[in-house]
Amino acid sequence: MLTVALCKGKLIEPTLKLFAKAGYGAARPAADSRRLLIPCPEIGMTFLIVRPTDVPTYVEHGAADVGIVGKDVLLEQDCDVYEPLDLGFGACRIAVAAFRGQIARDRLSSKIRVATKYPKITERYFNQRGVPVEIIKLYGSIELAPIVGLADRIVDLVETGNTLKAHGLVEIECIARSTARLIVNRASLKLKHLAIAELLKNLRSACASPQRPARDASPKPARAAGRKVKRART
Ligand code: PRP
Repeated sequence: MLTVALCKGKLIEPTLKLFAKAGYGAARPAADSRRLLIPCPEIGMTFLIVRPTDVPTYVEHGAADVGIVGKDVLLEQDCDVYEPLDLGFGACRIAVAAFRGQIARDRLSSKIRVATKYPKITERYFNQRGVPVEIIKLYGSIELAPIVGLADRIVDLVETGNTLKAHGLVEIECIARSTARLIVNRASLKLKHLAIAELLKNLRSACASPQRPARDASPKPARAAGRKVKRART
């Protein structure tokens, strides 16, 4: 049996689609479910539904054998897990942004205030450039910070760029690119090698095959839809 940590939010739908495409169709929890622990014995897996920033913690400590999480979270947390597969979806970038008129602010000697959900990434980035910063840690709605005078800059995720544009902000520089990754607990990789190798193989081929979103998005259980259900080996 494999325990799989999935993150709530934007990545959960494409993750479930990918699992369905890889033959683990029974992984789909009901859309309105509030359940945080979903046993799926028919495919040999138990799913944990956790916050994105908690996925690496569950996997690093072995509470989950594998997890799906954005590279942005991994870059921020620097955790000790194996990261064997880039799943390709959830593409976005971690970028510095500011009001257009403030772009030359780095040349000033005083500290610039940067609001972000990513304090470590932000500190590394500005330290490498020798720019003194005061980091203001926020947990969301980062674009608000320059508008209300809380920060001079932000470091945040940019996907379409619409949120920046809607708040009169411009992207100054891309710090890193992010996509969803499969992460694996180092001990589980040895103790449950067969099951993890099979999951990796199936996810890899699902990532490589052409998209068929309409079929993959079906909420029907895999058996009812007449699809083969794979079971994780233990
Ligand atoms: C993320 C990110 C940006 C937005 C970027 O926020 O922090 O605000 O998405 O997307 P876009 O470039 O497509 O506009 P999220 O929706 O996760 O909410 P949050 O502000 O609470 O973090």
